[in-house]
Amino acid sequence: MRVVVIFASALTIAVLGQDAPKLIQASDCSSCHAVDHQVVGPAYNEIAKRYAAQTDAPDKLAAKIRDGGGGMTSHPDLSDAQRTEIAKWILSQTAAAASQAVQTYAYTLKDGTAVQLDFPLFVDAKGPKVTKDVFHGYQLYNSYCYRCHGTDATGGQLGPDLRRSLAAGMKQQGFLSVAMTGRKEQGMPAWAGFLSEQDVVHVYKYVKGRSLELVPSGRPASEQD
Ligand code: HEC
Ligand code: HEC
Repeated sequence: MRVVVIFASALTIAVLGQDAPKLIQASDCSSCHAVDHQVVGPAYNEIAKRYAAQTDAPDKLAAKIRDGGGGMTSHPDLSDAQRTEIAKWILSQTAAAASQAVQTYAYTLKDGTAVQLDFPLFVDAKGPKVTKDVFHGYQLYNSYCYRCHGTDATGGQLGPDLRRSLAAGMKQQGFLSVAMTGRKEQGMPAWAGFLSEQDVVHVYKYVKGRSLELVPSGRPASEQD
């Protein structure tokens, strides 16, 4: 009888250990965090590095996950055990992902200027079919952003022309940060928890293509056509 009990509790711990990625998946964390790069919040491997020498790190991080603050949401819905489980998992993400060689994609603008992007806009070098990411960005944009920022990113009554924001120097990181956390007082909603980081990166890619006048207005040609 006793053996069964010990076995059962050991099993519970093993299952808990595997649960952290699932808990993170089910919560809103991935809107703002990734393992190996900053999104809105710091990368998990950066957090792991920062707290490596601190023995009370699991408690500290669990408290941060509970209370949030500084741009992070609070998580009273998770139990103490779940928050500690997630904290321990984050602290285990120490192996920095090997930095991949950055591939670039060259495009020529209408005025002849050459630009280089770190992602492709088109399936073939010159288009016209946009990548799956860009097409998805177009769809998301015209479902969720157009009513304030204008159809096909042409600027609207309620929100600024995002093509201009990018032309003025806003980068993917800044775009993500505003899109995820919003500027509620100015009428810009927060999309964290509703759209994933990847979703917003797709919107960014679409708006970038629009801002460079490489992706046309209207429904762009896609791989599915
Ligand atoms: C809306 C964006 C957002 C969401 C959602 C979010 N975070 Fe954060 N997180 C942040 C920001 C921004 C910081 C940095 C805050 C600060 O410096 O005080 C942060 C900080 C942290 C830290 C502490 C880092 C440190 O060095 O002290 C941990 C751990 C963390 N987040 C884990 C999570 C987990 C786990 C979830 C999901 C349950 C989550 N976060 C959800 C934005 C977010
Ligand atoms: C309800 C209206 C509304 C919706 C919907 C909306 N926005 Fe906004 N957005 C705004 C307003 C208003 C601002 C300007 C805020 C300010 O004054 O700083 C803004 C600003 C921004 C900025 C910063 C631009 C800059 O130059 O600083 C980004 C990026 C952005 N929005 C992205 C998005 C994305 C992506 C979506 C769709 C997922 C979206 N917005 C949906 C109203 C909206």
